Amino acid sequence: MNLKDIISKEVDRRKTFAIISHPDAGKTTLTEKLLLYGGAIRLAGSVKSRKTNKYAVSDWMEIEKQRGISVTSSVLQFEYGGYCINILDTPGHQDFSEDTYRTLMAADSAVMLIDGAKGVEEQTIKLFHVCKMRGIPIFTFVNKMDRASKDPFELMEEIEQVLKIRSYPINWPIGTDGDFKGVYNRELAQIELFEGGKHGQNIVSSTKGSVEDKVFLDLLGEHYYNKLCEDIELLDIAGDEFDKKKFDSGNLTPIFFGSAMTNFGVQPFLEKFLQLAPKPGIKDSSEGPVIPESDKFTGFVFKIQANMNPAHRDRIAFIRICSGRFSKGMSVYHVREGKEVKLSQPQQFMAQDRTIVEEAYPGDIIGVFDPGIFQIGDTLSEGNAKLEFEGIPVFPAEHFARVIPADTMKRKQFLKGINQLAEEGAIQVFKQIDIGIEAFIIGAVGVLQFEVLEYRLKNEYGVDLKIQKLPHRFARWIADSTIDPRKLTLTSSTMIVQDEEERYVLLFENEWSISWAKEKNNSLELHDIAKKS
Ligand code: G4P
Repeated sequence: MNLKDIISKEVDRRKTFAIISHPDAGKTTLTEKLLLYGGAIRLAGSVKSRKTNKYAVSDWMEIEKQRGISVTSSVLQFEYGGYCINILDTPGHQDFSEDTYRTLMAADSAVMLIDGAKGVEEQTIKLFHVCKMRGIPIFTFVNKMDRASKDPFELMEEIEQVLKIRSYPINWPIGTDGDFKGVYNRELAQIELFEGGKHGQNIVSSTKGSVEDKVFLDLLGEHYYNKLCEDIELLDIAGDEFDKKKFDSGNLTPIFFGSAMTNFGVQPFLEKFLQLAPKPGIKDSSEGPVIPESDKFTGFVFKIQANMNPAHRDRIAFIRICSGRFSKGMSVYHVREGKEVKLSQPQQFMAQDRTIVEEAYPGDIIGVFDPGIFQIGDTLSEGNAKLEFEGIPVFPAEHFARVIPADTMKRKQFLKGINQLAEEGAIQVFKQIDIGIEAFIIGAVGVLQFEVLEYRLKNEYGVDLKIQKLPHRFARWIADSTIDPRKLTLTSSTMIVQDEEERYVLLFENEWSISWAKEKNNSLELHDIAKKS
């Protein structure tokens, strides 16, 4: 086989996705079950234990160990049914960071995991919007159906209303009031029975290919049978068709009901997922579309992680491969720097270990040793020194603090430290304008980043910080760069700052003051996500 054929074969079997959810919806459990099917982990509990302090795959930073949480995200790769699947793992705790958003820039599809009893929650909404912005296909898995849940119609309505996406249930739950019977598979007209530990292996199919088959009546009893017939009739009449085009563009989500903990519905989900999820696709660049099957390697940096191994003070740049083949030790153009670099110590992140990769293909994520030359959004390209992918946006910080070194003599180290963390994308640095002194306002997507900042400045730069938290919650970039923000009518609490690229940004305490600013300033246009230039 020639190289192009090899690459093409590998592209065809790649599926790279992220699970988006609110903490506690069951992401760790689902991830673990998926890995289990792929034989990637031997014992249930290995992913889970990351949350405890026994053993942690991503225990790279002391702070993670202390808090028993995963601050960073990692990538898990496994094989199933001939496919090579990459799950981009994202932090599952309340204080998630900008990394969580950025990881979605490297995914080709997303699985939105919802707790059936809770419905669409806050963090899911935020992550969903990033997926929607990218227009990637979004699957929905409604979890914890083994317990009482919200009415499935209510859940569908919530998804459609809150997230503004059409939905199509692939299966339909029976007994959602705490007496879960299983699901009706609409495509196959069969009932997949929930029998506690049996993991839905018992399937009863309809002889007529219809929900009205009397075999289901005997199975479910009159109450549940009648309810199921009514529900399915309603869905068939009032619901959307499954439109693949709408799904592909992120405008329709297929819904699966199941229970990750009991394994129920996980395998049917995985199989349908593999059938529907896209393989790595074409990506636009400054030099035109880049097709993954090309024999030239391209990729972009979506995440930088420092100090994964505190003993070595190393820095790892995570690269999403977009085209061609990556092979160990290869040299590529670092387009922004305009020079060739050798990608040394390439690593891939399996369920448990970091292993050295010999080769990798589009859709895969590799981590390479970074001697301090990479930034988030950098393009790496083989053979074309000009090809650049669009940068990764800056996501809106939601927490702000005024930060100064406790010892003013340490100003130089302080600046070095915050620049380093900003480059890694852990924090956003703003400067307050017109106040006579140089004041840095640090913005973070998750409040935990302030702890990371404090910890790392002390440990790596020997700087103690004074952190004064601010009440602001929203950063908005002024769309028109010719506007002088000093001339705007703003509430007294609105703060004017400049980002690292000297663009004006307004910091607001609440949504009300954003509306007020827009109203009083002739429909002032504000953006919540800024493009990196
Ligand atoms: P997360 O990563 O999204 O934060 O969620 P995680 O998988 O840790 O799950 C959160 C809790 O929900 C766990 O319970 C987990 O066992 C439970 N859970 C996950 N899937 C299901 C499900 O399908 N049905 C039910 N009933 N529960 C589910 P916990 O009590 O917090 O932890 P543990 O004691 O089970 O370890």
